[in-house]
Amino acid sequence: MLLSTPGNYFLGKPQFLDNPHGWIPHIPFAFWLMEVIDPSVLVELGTYSGNSYFAFCQARKALGLSTRCFAVDTWQGDMHVGNYGKEIYEQVSKINQKEFAGFSTLLRMEFDKALDSFSEGSIDVLHIDGTHTYAAARNDFDNWLPKMSHQGIILLHDTEVRRPGFEVWKLMEEIRKRYKLLEFPFGEGLAAICTGENPPAPINELIELSKKDLQIIQWFEILGNNILLEKEREDLKQETKKWKQKTAAINVELLKEKRKTKTLKKQLGQNHPNPKP
Ligand SMILES: C[S@@+](CC[C@H](N)C(=O)[O-])C[C@H]1O[C@@H](n2cnc3c(N)ncnc32)[C@H](O)[C@@H]1O
Repeated sequence: MLLSTPGNYFLGKPQFLDNPHGWIPHIPFAFWLMEVIDPSVLVELGTYSGNSYFAFCQARKALGLSTRCFAVDTWQGDMHVGNYGKEIYEQVSKINQKEFAGFSTLLRMEFDKALDSFSEGSIDVLHIDGTHTYAAARNDFDNWLPKMSHQGIILLHDTEVRRPGFEVWKLMEEIRKRYKLLEFPFGEGLAAICTGENPPAPINELIELSKKDLQIIQWFEILGNNILLEKEREDLKQETKKWKQKTAAINVELLKEKRKTKTLKKQLGQNHPNPKP
């Protein structure tokens, strides 16, 4: 069975999940991809709180792969996710330092500035998940294409989103005509595009199989949705716990106020005794 790998790591659980949840359904594929191709260099453009990036890093570490991983982001946000504070970078940096420092580097800069850090033909996996306008996605794809190796795979996220300003789907219309690719049309959509002339054999096999039988893609969807639902349940549990604590604190305050009112009423009763009829 094609999906089955020596470690079957794609069945595993991600250790580092945060908001936003958009990438979570694609984590089983990220795990699978890492195990089957053991890329020498992986670069991510757009990391935010790290859901996708730490999934790649987790697989790299657990499977003892040889990948050097790089995350590029200003960690300031953009027109789609909005601007966010420095605590996001601090948290990502803390996890990276503690768990993945031996092989993972955070490049806190504009994508275009990071281009000089990589030589031509050196990247095996590039994940593009920055600003999602057509112009930005096209710019990222074109600028980084020369950096891809002969077996390179570019992952594009948000291929299915049709909200205003999200135009990766437009870029996909052009890419589909030109490259061999796999599409995962669930969640917000992910595509794995073979930009090199020599795609890794397991990717070729998966592409061929998915042409005959879409069920293989649906397995990734089922596994991904499980992870997403578990995360949502965990978030709700935490939220419920917070509300319970808040309710308990309010109850304590209420009790105090009721006691004070009782005392006050007593005092008022003494100062202003009811007039005798
Ligand atoms: C959609 S989020 C990434 C989501 C992430 N991959 C995940 O798994 O949740 C996009 C990120 O790209 C960053 N970004 C967008 N355009 C950028 C650019 N030109 N240079 C550097 N960072 C950029 C933003 O700061 C933001 O953190």
